[in-house]
Amino acid sequence: MVSTVTKSRKVVVVGTGFVGSSYAFSLLNQGVANELVLIDLNREKAEGEARDLNHGMPFGSPMKIRAGDYDECSNADLVVITAGANQAPGETRLDLLSKNAKVFRIIVNAVMKSGFKGIFLVATNPVDILSHVTLEVSGLPKQRVIGSGTILDTARFRYLLSEHFEIDSRNVHAYIMGEHGDTELPVWSHVQIGGVPLSRYADIDDIENNKEMQEIFVNVRDAAYSIIESKGATYYGIALGLVRLTKAILHNENSIVTVSTLLDGEYGLKDVFLGVPAVVNEHGIRQVVELELNAKEQQQLEHSASVLKEMTEKALG
Ligand code: 2OP
Repeated sequence: MVSTVTKSRKVVVVGTGFVGSSYAFSLLNQGVANELVLIDLNREKAEGEARDLNHGMPFGSPMKIRAGDYDECSNADLVVITAGANQAPGETRLDLLSKNAKVFRIIVNAVMKSGFKGIFLVATNPVDILSHVTLEVSGLPKQRVIGSGTILDTARFRYLLSEHFEIDSRNVHAYIMGEHGDTELPVWSHVQIGGVPLSRYADIDDIENNKEMQEIFVNVRDAAYSIIESKGATYYGIALGLVRLTKAILHNENSIVTVSTLLDGEYGLKDVFLGVPAVVNEHGIRQVVELELNAKEQQQLEHSASVLKEMTEKALG
């Protein structure tokens, strides 16, 4: 007889602002989890979001959604943290550090107090540093603390390249690595369109110094600034990226995605959380994928790492 037992897939999201609620909405649409608990300092907001989402249940995929408290984390597979202040126009992600590091200590301690045994997925900015704070405060193995890192920047990069070359973005393979922020870098040497290196596909010799390509990267790097100027915050893109990661984790996909993880010698770097391609499954981060970077890319990655390391040391005290 075929077993009808479905694996429980319980997600807790901490923070029901724009990012947390958009994430919950996309999760309901995509049927990735079967239980979702919303936690917010403003309990009434979490209750309202849960009610609103539940009313869409007949149109989405079956999932139990409710507002709750930290004790709900005890048997959660995944805790997604989206809580904290977000950027005001003109502010950088790093400017948010002191405000959000304090909030994170409280949240992570509360989650761990419940007896949590799952995986943390961190989205709040500055995401690389707050992932490091989460690792330190939780004491969990590094595989189980994942930052959303450059997953969104990579998606922006693939999208803009796909628009430029008029190719389905799913056939554009490209990575943004490093800080999710101003020091991130495009890995031009590994951009491929349908398996063909970009330089050959586009017939451009010096891809990284090509004006149009440089413009694409600047638009990726500065995308959040321009969206924040226009509508105050970014949330749909990151929410979909978080659902992608949730699926890779809960469905044990072994997907390669650009996430923030604690490096331990990969790319010649140590003790710093940085966006790199990595294999993600139900245990968290299985392994970092080490691309062969050219000298300029390696130097840019090292610069990004040194900026983050300095800020992280301040945050960890
Ligand atoms: C983004 O890149 C602000 O980190 C957020 O959209």
